Amino acid sequence: MRALAILLSLFLSVSAQHGSQWSYAGGVLDQEQWAEQYPTCGGKRQSPINLQKHLVEYDPTLKKLNLVGYEAQGLKFSMINNGHTVQISLPQTMLMTTADGTVYVAQQMHFHWGGGSSEMRGSEHTIDKERFVIEAHVVHYNSTYKSYDVAKEHPNGLAVLTVFFVESHDDDENLHYTEFFSHLKNIKYPGQNTTLSGFDIKHMLPRNLQDYYTYHGSLTTPPCTENVLWFLLAEPIKLSKKQILLLETSLLNDQNKTLQNNYRASQPLNGRVVQASFKSFSYNHGVDQCPLAVVSTKRLKKDCLHRVWEI
Ligand SMILES: *[C@@H]1O[C@H](CO)[C@@H](O)[C@H](O)[C@H]1NC(C)=O
Ligand SMILES: *[C@@H]1O[C@H](CO)[C@@H](O)[C@H](O)[C@H]1NC(C)=O
Ligand SMILES: *[C@@H]1O[C@H](CO)[C@@H](O)[C@H](O)[C@H]1NC(C)=O
Ligand SMILES: [Zn+2]
Repeated sequence: MRALAILLSLFLSVSAQHGSQWSYAGGVLDQEQWAEQYPTCGGKRQSPINLQKHLVEYDPTLKKLNLVGYEAQGLKFSMINNGHTVQISLPQTMLMTTADGTVYVAQQMHFHWGGGSSEMRGSEHTIDKERFVIEAHVVHYNSTYKSYDVAKEHPNGLAVLTVFFVESHDDDENLHYTEFFSHLKNIKYPGQNTTLSGFDIKHMLPRNLQDYYTYHGSLTTPPCTENVLWFLLAEPIKLSKKQILLLETSLLNDQNKTLQNNYRASQPLNGRVVQASFKSFSYNHGVDQCPLAVVSTKRLKKDCLHRVWEI
């Protein structure tokens, strides 16, 4: 009996890890149906959303995000294909402090991307309906809770730091992502894991931690818990086309189909207001031109154009 129970719980935890109970589209329980089994997914404070720049509220008290312990420290990181995304486990020595002094502890980092035949872009959040090629989520929990597992069940438990990606026009490889991309081939099948070393998250993030949007929302996958404070960094990261294609083609899902378009559709705002820590809503989302205000200052112009490459 006990052996059976152990077997059963093993089976359940394996299928939970492989996430076979839901899909984005075309599989079991696709995103239109999530709310049938996870009622919160039909709630009023869901994520992702479409940000409308002209409705964003500037809040001068939103100071720079402070990240401690994100630089390389000779640690090893485990990275897994969980059937829905590629996910990197993060050590509890990585801390993010927000403007109001709340300390959040890092838990994991994962990605959302496109790549399906008609859809090259796959970010979850959109800005004035513009979808970015990739979106990364660094998931944290409020340090007043003892662990991620406790925090994820409580109000104000989680914070997600979000990074958008654009295709670099000079097609330079982003060397800060080399270690990450070189390991994707080891985790082709769901449930496989690999180990990253010499890994440096700080350099995988934008340099500008002052300019961000923030709002109250939810997890973007079941159970869609509405306890996430979102921080969306305005400065995007550049990747080469080759790097983007690698993410879009390297992994398989539970049906042994290429893992693509793993993003959730935009959810209704329902009266929520998005705040921004910065005033210039013409912020350059990384294509070629910088905003006029930035172009007038030499140093800033350089920053704006080359920020990602100059680290
Ligand atoms: C962090 O969690 C505590 C409860 O443990 C709560 O009082 C506090 O408001 C939370 N912080 C934020 C910014 O949500
Ligand atoms: C990684 O895979 C190995 C071998 O399959 C397994 O023993 C180990 O528990 C896995 N680690 C994680 C973090 O999933
Ligand atoms: C996926 O492919 C692998 C390797 O060929 C195989 O072992 C596995 O059973 C396949 N899974 C499914 C669901 O078809
Ligand atoms: Zn996510």
